[in-house]
Amino acid sequence: MENRDAGLVEKISALKKKKNAVILVHNYQRDEVQDIADFLGDSLELSQNAAKTDADVIVFCGVHFMAETASIICPDKVVLLPDMNAGCPMADMITAKQLRAKKKEHPQAVVVCYINSSAEVKAESDICCTSANAVEIVESLDAPEILFVPDQYLGHYVSARTGKKMILWPGFCPTHARIEPETIKELKREYPQAKVVVHPECKPEVIALADEVTSTSGMCRYARRDEVREMVVGTEIGLIHRLRKESPGKRFIPVSEQAICPNMKLITLEKVLWSLEEMSPEVKVPREIRLKAIAAVDKMLQGKFQIPSTKS
Ligand code: 13P
Ligand code: SF4
Repeated sequence: MENRDAGLVEKISALKKKKNAVILVHNYQRDEVQDIADFLGDSLELSQNAAKTDADVIVFCGVHFMAETASIICPDKVVLLPDMNAGCPMADMITAKQLRAKKKEHPQAVVVCYINSSAEVKAESDICCTSANAVEIVESLDAPEILFVPDQYLGHYVSARTGKKMILWPGFCPTHARIEPETIKELKREYPQAKVVVHPECKPEVIALADEVTSTSGMCRYARRDEVREMVVGTEIGLIHRLRKESPGKRFIPVSEQAICPNMKLITLEKVLWSLEEMSPEVKVPREIRLKAIAAVDKMLQGKFQIPSTKS
């Protein structure tokens, strides 16, 4: 660690204690930000941790929808997002107004929203899911129609796995869309022993070439298996740091140096320190939206997936 970073880390740690704060960090964050995490994980684990923490302040090192979800779950805590510009372009591909219009076309449909969506969209949805539980959640639904927003590729994957016909919103992740099947084929030729693991936000042609399709933390669990010695990693480049740290003797091959989420990289150690010093920028979901959105998030967290097949 550089001296400059060491000084920042020391200051962050002292302030964190003083303010009774917890630092939740997503697996795609910069290496040095991952290293100051009280908890490092995927979207599902981060919301589960937000739900159970007894800290007064949550510093969310991730993107806006993640901090919003923490605010929905913990309305009495201060949720800080060290850079307000850290958004998720996929989450911005659907608005609540657009979803309301789509629901009018399909009044019987159960609405499943990927956690990568705004609080307003969650408020219009029946149940939320993440990449870690989407298959399980959709599997459990007894519904004449399922409307899945906003990720068409995750939706396509879940539909193929469950055999359920789903209406898909045409959203996508620009970072995962950069991963091409030709690159995977080349890497398979170059590393014939390597397992290919990809995120379900990848295109179907990429998913078709994978040995395993799973969330970011799912990839870390898969990498720990004895039989995995080399792994082609089909997701955002930031995960490589955690994989190498946790399994130092193994080889991890990023599928593309281009698979970078610029929003995730906006959070820096300096910004974490400033946000703790100033207790800002704060993400707070307005009460009337929160009260509607919590139903969809709670069903996911409580594992209460059964939604009546006829909607009132
Ligand atoms: P995970 O929940 O699998 O960590 O994914 C979050 C995300 O934004 C993927 O692009
Ligand atoms: Fe959104 Fe894609 Fe970045 Fe994940 S990697 S936060 S889905 S833009």
